[in-house]
Amino acid sequence: MVTFVRDQWYVAAYGYEVGRDLLARTILGEPLVLYRTGEGEPVALADRCVHRRFPLSESRLHGDTIVCGYHGFTYDSTGICVAVPGQRRVPRTARVASYPVVEQDSFVWVWIGERERADASLIPRAPWLADPAYATVSGMEPLAARYELLVDNLMDLSHETYLHGGYIGSPEVAETPITTEVDDEKGVVHVSRHMADAACPPFYAKSTGLEGRITRWQDIEYHPPCLYLLHSRIAPVGVLPEEDGGDPHAFHVEVVYAITPETEHSTLDFWAVARDFALDDQGVSDFLRESNHTVVMQDVVALNILEKVIATEPEGYQELSINIDTGALAARRILSRMART
Ligand code: FES
Ligand SMILES: [Fe+2]
Repeated sequence: MVTFVRDQWYVAAYGYEVGRDLLARTILGEPLVLYRTGEGEPVALADRCVHRRFPLSESRLHGDTIVCGYHGFTYDSTGICVAVPGQRRVPRTARVASYPVVEQDSFVWVWIGERERADASLIPRAPWLADPAYATVSGMEPLAARYELLVDNLMDLSHETYLHGGYIGSPEVAETPITTEVDDEKGVVHVSRHMADAACPPFYAKSTGLEGRITRWQDIEYHPPCLYLLHSRIAPVGVLPEEDGGDPHAFHVEVVYAITPETEHSTLDFWAVARDFALDDQGVSDFLRESNHTVVMQDVVALNILEKVIATEPEGYQELSINIDTGALAARRILSRMART
């Protein structure tokens, strides 16, 4: 069964997607319309006109108001209806829900749940995405699968060896054991895999220019429900961070996923890859964008298949889990706890 966690911040869009055109996005089954006011503030309103349900996203902006494309009910950026056709009096109940919105780290975050509980300080951070010391490529793919399948997928990177061979996979990923730590207080799951001597897959060989074998570290930080961070460190074999914490001879890639449940059986898969090298090299940006998009699509195809498999299986099917699944199982436990509270 799909577990939705309400009273949480979710990524609705990248900042660059939200502008003076109306953008429709569904989160946790709630249809939203997003736009930016003339002052540049992002706005999220319920995407259903109170009159006859016409989607506001199919309507038009007039200044900072939305004029419904069916009969002209007009809403301000707080969702209050300020004009209706054919009469002066606007019914007092004429309003659509407005959602708390925060723009941070290149994402537009929307609070889904009780308005009073929205606290912007709870939004997990991905500062690299808006940091000029990093170059970032990003995109979003819709997934015809429940979000839990994407959480499973990202928490266990041993699949890179099999599903993403020739891109980010190499034999050592599947061969090297992981360590898993759960910070229950903060509700964060850490999964680490440090490979001391590994083949350099094309994704990193071509972008960094490293030849030969590498030290490859993968340190995952999952902030349920929405934000997944993979701190990836690549260096020639034997090159470790310095004692003072500096790490000038390594390449760092911050892989960020925002996992936003759209409906019970579909997900918005926001992906971004930020690097601290070759910042002005458009060729490297193009290569990483295309490679990561290919990798994301390999996952999308696999997860869409799994969703279909689940839909047709008899009730009570028992999965079998092994060591590589420790992080994913911890994530599931936290998600179901969050869904209950
Ligand atoms: S449905 Fe929007 S004004 Fe009638
Ligand atoms: Fe993958």
